[in-house]
Amino acid sequence: MTHLLITRQLGTDLSSLEALATVDVWADRQPPPYEILQQKIPHVDGLLCLLTDRIDQALIHTGRSLKVISQMAVGYDNIDIAAATARGIPVGHTPGVLTNATADLTWALLMAAARRIVEGDRFTRSGQWQTWEPNLLLGADMAGATLGIVGLGRIGQAVARRAQGFEMQILYTGRHRGDPALEQALGVEFVDFDRLLATSDFITIHTPLSPETHHLFSDRQFEQMQSTAVLINTARGAIVDPEALYRALQNHQIAAAAIDVTDPEPISMASPLLELENLIITPHIGSASVQTRQKMAAMAIANLIAGLKGERLPYCVNPEVYA
Ligand code: DGY
Repeated sequence: MTHLLITRQLGTDLSSLEALATVDVWADRQPPPYEILQQKIPHVDGLLCLLTDRIDQALIHTGRSLKVISQMAVGYDNIDIAAATARGIPVGHTPGVLTNATADLTWALLMAAARRIVEGDRFTRSGQWQTWEPNLLLGADMAGATLGIVGLGRIGQAVARRAQGFEMQILYTGRHRGDPALEQALGVEFVDFDRLLATSDFITIHTPLSPETHHLFSDRQFEQMQSTAVLINTARGAIVDPEALYRALQNHQIAAAAIDVTDPEPISMASPLLELENLIITPHIGSASVQTRQKMAAMAIANLIAGLKGERLPYCVNPEVYA
């Protein structure tokens, strides 16, 4: 008998999986503790997991019958891909379908930070709105401003496309320069990280979390940014050093930030970041539209089924397992 483990309720029809296997769905709102995963994994042929599950080398080694790991997210920094590959286990993910939703949220945060929307809402609700004032809650213009994109992958490109409509100058940086035809179509210019930091009015992060990008934004980077700059992070929390971010916002080294991801997640209610007026924090909802989450679940299920049947995963992180 084939056994599947799904680490949370997805709110989607599982009949295609139930026709193939017994399906164990973790029903709590919180993710299964690591010890529970350790107990369950030896009996599982296929795993559908989320970015909140730590799928490390030890767990992968314990999964003696594991044929496929399918993650319902595009990012997979919670999974030890090398360990899965070493065991010949394909890992699936959900690229593409969440690009627009995440780019939309990036823009929502960017504009909310630039125009101080959340502060304005708090101001109104607390009864402070007494009259129209020439200097009340002044923010920053988008038109004519410079947008710096860190990582011009799918989501970075979708953010750049939206920036064209705002008449911005668009810079990007990354490990490699992109195709000149793509640069021309998006109206973007490749620059090194230091120049992007020093000249951008808005900086938005769209790079995966890896040992190279861990705390990519720390004190030195904030020192290079303009005092009027706004930082947006809808990628992974640990790309930004939270203590350095606190110092930069508290000392007005930069003007504002808006982050959908934190380090750790969820943010501790004791974090001093929560006291800052010039910081907006949302709870990792970049891909949280009804349609997008349905598409992500469908892709994750398609990957899982392919893996169980021994077929190539449609969206595979480690295709070298098929070599
Ligand atoms: C991802 O897919 O990696 C996002 O962070 C959640 O949708």
